Amino acid sequence: MLKIALIGYGQMGKLIEQLAPQYDCKIVAIIDPLLGNSITSDSVAEADVCLEFSTPDAAFENVKKLVELGKDVVTGTTGWFDNLDKIKIMVEKEGTGFIYGSNFSIGMNLFFSILESTAKLMNKTEEYDLFGLEMHHNKKKDSPSGTAKVLSDIILKNIDRKTIAQYEKLDRKVEQNEFHFASIRSGDIPGMHSISFDSAADTIELKHTARNRAGLALGAIKAAKWINNKTGFYNFSGSLNEIIG
Ligand SMILES: NC(=O)c1ccc[n+]([C@@H]2O[C@H](COP(=O)([O-])OP(=O)(O)OC[C@H]3O[C@@H](n4cnc5c(N)ncnc54)[C@H](O)[C@@H]3O)[C@@H](O)[C@H]2O)c1
Repeated sequence: MLKIALIGYGQMGKLIEQLAPQYDCKIVAIIDPLLGNSITSDSVAEADVCLEFSTPDAAFENVKKLVELGKDVVTGTTGWFDNLDKIKIMVEKEGTGFIYGSNFSIGMNLFFSILESTAKLMNKTEEYDLFGLEMHHNKKKDSPSGTAKVLSDIILKNIDRKTIAQYEKLDRKVEQNEFHFASIRSGDIPGMHSISFDSAADTIELKHTARNRAGLALGAIKAAKWINNKTGFYNFSGSLNEIIG
């Protein structure tokens, strides 16, 4: 049974705690300033892997401490990835395992691969124009979503006729080289992303609809099982085949 320390006990930490027993994992420590504790050699001593879902301000220091303590780490906290280079150096020096990702949903990572293959196929079929649409609940703070930006990057990298992503409302005609991606915020929608290819004859739509956040927590648990006893610095999307394999 994999022993996990949760670093950050917000929505994601609580969801991972709920799911862990079903996946043969045991939570042996929960660290959060709201619980009045912090990362020390004692507080995470029992853990095989530490799962870090905190805040952009806290993540770098948390990960740094954990790596210095020789712990294997999974982090899903977003908004601090400019500091990943420093973590990579530490991980290599300490000989620990580290994996990060901005979207731990296995379905969404499969969707990235599906979109990449489709975009390569559609690159030469110039009669198709394309656009993106994403919808999320009304509490989401950012727009477009981070995932929308990843999807746009895949399009721009693989479709020669699209050279720029355009997320703004347009009071003019869209240019042919612009990939228009719209965002809607309303109600409780957990997350929907679609990419459509549109011609005079038909529309082809690729769509990912999240039902809840459980897919994100499950991906983090699978990443924890995979990184246990490994050394090195990894990205979730880049390691997906091995993680789900
Ligand atoms: N990669 C993914 O798939 C994925 C999925 C969901 C959320 N996220 C990201 O993960 C992070 C956490 O998400 P959430 O929904 O659980 O947020 P949340 O706001 O519900 O919880 C964050 C928790 O971190 C705690 N915290 C603050 N400082 C801390 C510290 N120094 N050490 C430990 N804990 C600390 C807070 O007290 C809070 O309980 C966010 O950055 C979010 O964007 C990523």
